[in-house]
Amino acid sequence: MIDQQTVLYGVVGWPIGHSLSPVMHNAAFAAAGLNAVYLAFAVRDLAGCMAGVQALGIRGLSVTVPHKSAVIPHLDDLDERAREIGAVNTVVNRDGRLTGYNTDAAGALQALEERISLAGKRCLILGAGGAARAIAFALRDKVGALTVANRSPARGRALAQALGCSFISLDELHRVQADLLIQTTPVGMAPDDGACPVSEQILKEGMAVMDIIYNPLETKLLAMARSRGCVTITGLSMFIHQGAEQFRLWTGGEPSVQAMTRAVLEVLAPEER
Ligand code: ATR
Repeated sequence: MIDQQTVLYGVVGWPIGHSLSPVMHNAAFAAAGLNAVYLAFAVRDLAGCMAGVQALGIRGLSVTVPHKSAVIPHLDDLDERAREIGAVNTVVNRDGRLTGYNTDAAGALQALEERISLAGKRCLILGAGGAARAIAFALRDKVGALTVANRSPARGRALAQALGCSFISLDELHRVQADLLIQTTPVGMAPDDGACPVSEQILKEGMAVMDIIYNPLETKLLAMARSRGCVTITGLSMFIHQGAEQFRLWTGGEPSVQAMTRAVLEVLAPEER
């Protein structure tokens, strides 16, 4: 029941209509028996929003496109990893002091490490946007080698340089020997879910393939990878784990990953319930 003690959290972005974060976090709060509510805020005026967070005592925020970098000047403190990545997806309000974190990196690592061992892996990252950057910095010290591939070479090279790794253009992908492919572009996302960013030939048996897209749950890339004998890791897994890390930062407690997953699956795949 909502009452005078209810603690407020939310996600800010533009647009925000398709976000599954409210469903996921409200399920986590309910499972933990917390008197808390999580809402979606469609925000264009970020400065006004952050003043509102302070004034209303909103306890925590998820931050999404297009505000992940723009929010940084509005914060009091920045976690080291978020600083390195240059993007914040989580804000914690501790008695009026706002600290920014990036849980995409931890979420990706957990999604990967619960399925495969990263040590010594030759990893190919497709894309060089914010998500690619977060994942690449998290993986840098865990894998054997890292290569960035991107549509626009300038952006791809810049990320590769920041990581101290190599860059390859999309039309040279067949030359890379990779054990782990991580797909971070929007190619294959609903409603354009017939699209696939790479040709089937680069998918080899025994390889691991993670797609950060979670709608559809199994992208064309993951379906192809599965049929070629690859280990496949879904974007849903990363989404849930980054949300679980947010819950830990906000509440200090351990969320029910099972309740979070169930709630999101009820929306994404109601027929499979
Ligand atoms: P996010 O922060 O979610 O990662 P982003 O910063 O917009 O999103 O990055 C999107 C990534 O997907 C970029 O690497 C982009 O490539 P460019 O740097 O060339 O723009 C890539 N991307 C987007 N649409 C693509 C497409 N149709 N084909 C290949 N790559 C695409």
